[in-house]
Amino acid sequence: MDHKQSVGLEAAKHVKDGMVVGLGTGSTATFFIRELGRRIKEENLGIRGVSSSLACSLLARSEGVPLVPPDQIDRIDLYVDGADEVDPAKGLIKGRGAAMVGEKLLAEACDRFIVIVDEGKLVQRLGAKFPVPVETMPAASTFVQRGIAALGGKPVLRLAPGGKDGPVVSDNGNLILDVTFAGTPDWNAIDAALNGLPGVVGHGLFLRYASKSTVLVGSPGGVRVLA
Ligand code: 5RP
Repeated sequence: MDHKQSVGLEAAKHVKDGMVVGLGTGSTATFFIRELGRRIKEENLGIRGVSSSLACSLLARSEGVPLVPPDQIDRIDLYVDGADEVDPAKGLIKGRGAAMVGEKLLAEACDRFIVIVDEGKLVQRLGAKFPVPVETMPAASTFVQRGIAALGGKPVLRLAPGGKDGPVVSDNGNLILDVTFAGTPDWNAIDAALNGLPGVVGHGLFLRYASKSTVLVGSPGGVRVLA
């Protein structure tokens, strides 16, 4: 079985009847959502899902997972999602799918966060393989790029592959800058600085959720919990 599939199925075992469940975006989260759909149909599991993106909502609907809008719930029992990088302290980079703003809402609102990845996502330090995606209001893009450069980052506007000319436009109508930082950046300082930069809607550094996170890692030997 594909390692992304095995962690998706494993995470779905943690979902109990009556839960409000945060649904992630991406290929690994897709396995989780499909398994939830199966359990709803075959085991009569009663849950309400909260979507992290348009792609996630479309998938949840097609799999028969009932959705409630994020602004109609007070809290989420369990949020399950993939990540692009995971460091030993369970810090994450997310946002390859440009869904990190919706995803961070769920990470904030949940009691428990299960991160589902394969071994290839584990890094010794964040930024080793993947840039930090930053969602910017279109009108603020030049200003934001200057601000990012002042922090030592190199922003590159994310372009849409095939199907559409020009940039990727997020579910919120914004642009995505993929930002690399040379050397060994102070990620906590960069997190705070990006949060304080006008025009930035959100970004893919998830540093504040480790205490409520469990990282499930799909590997050739099976699924293990990151210690
Ligand atoms: C989307 C995300 C995804 O969770 C992340 O990119 C992992 O995706 P995949 O499971 O396809 O590797 O952050 O914005």
